[in-house]
Amino acid sequence: MKFSNRITSMQASPIRRLVPYAEKARKAGKKVYPLNIGQPDIKTPPAFFEALGNFNKKVLAYDGSQGNPELIKAISNYYKTYNMDFQDDEILITNGGSEALLFAIIATCDAGDEVLVPEPFYTNYNGFASAVNVTVDGITTKAEEGFHLPKKEDLVKKIKPNTKSIILSNPGNPTGVVYTKDELKMLVDICIEHNLFILADEVYREFVYDGLEYISLGNFKEAEDRVIIIDSVSKRYSACGARIGSIASKNKDLIQEILKLCQGRLCVPTIEQIGAIELYKTPTDYFKEVNEEYTKRRDIVYGALQKMDGVICKEPKGAFYVSVKLPVDNAEKFIIWCLEEFDYNGETLMMAPLEGFYSTPGIGEDEARIAYILNTEELQKAMTVLDKALQAYPGRK
Ligand SMILES: Cc1ncc(COP(=O)(O)O)c(C=O)c1O
Repeated sequence: MKFSNRITSMQASPIRRLVPYAEKARKAGKKVYPLNIGQPDIKTPPAFFEALGNFNKKVLAYDGSQGNPELIKAISNYYKTYNMDFQDDEILITNGGSEALLFAIIATCDAGDEVLVPEPFYTNYNGFASAVNVTVDGITTKAEEGFHLPKKEDLVKKIKPNTKSIILSNPGNPTGVVYTKDELKMLVDICIEHNLFILADEVYREFVYDGLEYISLGNFKEAEDRVIIIDSVSKRYSACGARIGSIASKNKDLIQEILKLCQGRLCVPTIEQIGAIELYKTPTDYFKEVNEEYTKRRDIVYGALQKMDGVICKEPKGAFYVSVKLPVDNAEKFIIWCLEEFDYNGETLMMAPLEGFYSTPGIGEDEARIAYILNTEELQKAMTVLDKALQAYPGRK
């Protein structure tokens, strides 16, 4: 039987595809620090579980395709705290930010169209786009420049007749970049001048460090008909397993079109939406504490990386990832070697190889993404393991 070219040419996620190696290493008795995936260990606010426990309906029924109206209201109120004003008919609840991204790409691109994305980018943009025959063209950004955007004229050169949108993860996964107001304004201007949509993936909106100001693409009134805000409770409230995300746009026609996809998949889990209503009521103090913790973790990881011979990286300013250039022949080979051949006092680590976070061929082969999602003590130990592994690796450059 022949499978579609679409599916056979789609990459397996570099965040998850090395998991079998980690499982084997664990079975062999090694402790593996899982720094490959953005799965925080921060406690989910208890109000989520209380709401689940209080569910007392006799039938677990479908919810409406747009989503639970109370959750939509809660999200609309949350956006007000960021000076964004979304009406109830401008928000759709989705199965995580993942479905929101897929639906937004389907609704804005035809097969053969292209989306522009600063690279390295969240690797699943590649997966979602290629699944619907859309190509991703990377706007290469560099650690030396803090992963900030190139000049307007260089960006504009990338636009082709089939370019339909720009996707921006802000704060950036996997780089930790937080874009400035001027950069966002430049993007908004380009998208208006070239009639492009902007998919604003802001699932890490709260995770901004060092007192930096956070500006949302939803704050640019002049672009409100073309901005699509992608959101999720996964990282914001450390509720990755809830699978609750959303799409928000002032373009009501676009929302009505995407609603057709929502109707096709019927609804989002009924009970998790009830829990998510409570999450969106979490007082903002919660983020202060969480951000202090992430800042400490960032400092430990970045501090340790800076001391490692031949390792190049830039201090991340947001989200909870750092992209690192390693002094190795190939990062994926190195990560597999760490899992199969190496341990330091019975411990090893797992990272995500960064090549699949680029669309430009030949870049990122010696780069990896580290997610600083473990407690400070474990991160410290994981960084020692990495340092020792780099010293022992036979393919060191
Ligand atoms: C930038 C970005 N967008 C979207 C997602 C999707 O998250 P979820 O589907 O859990 O909401 C992730 C998950 O890691 C992410 O990092």
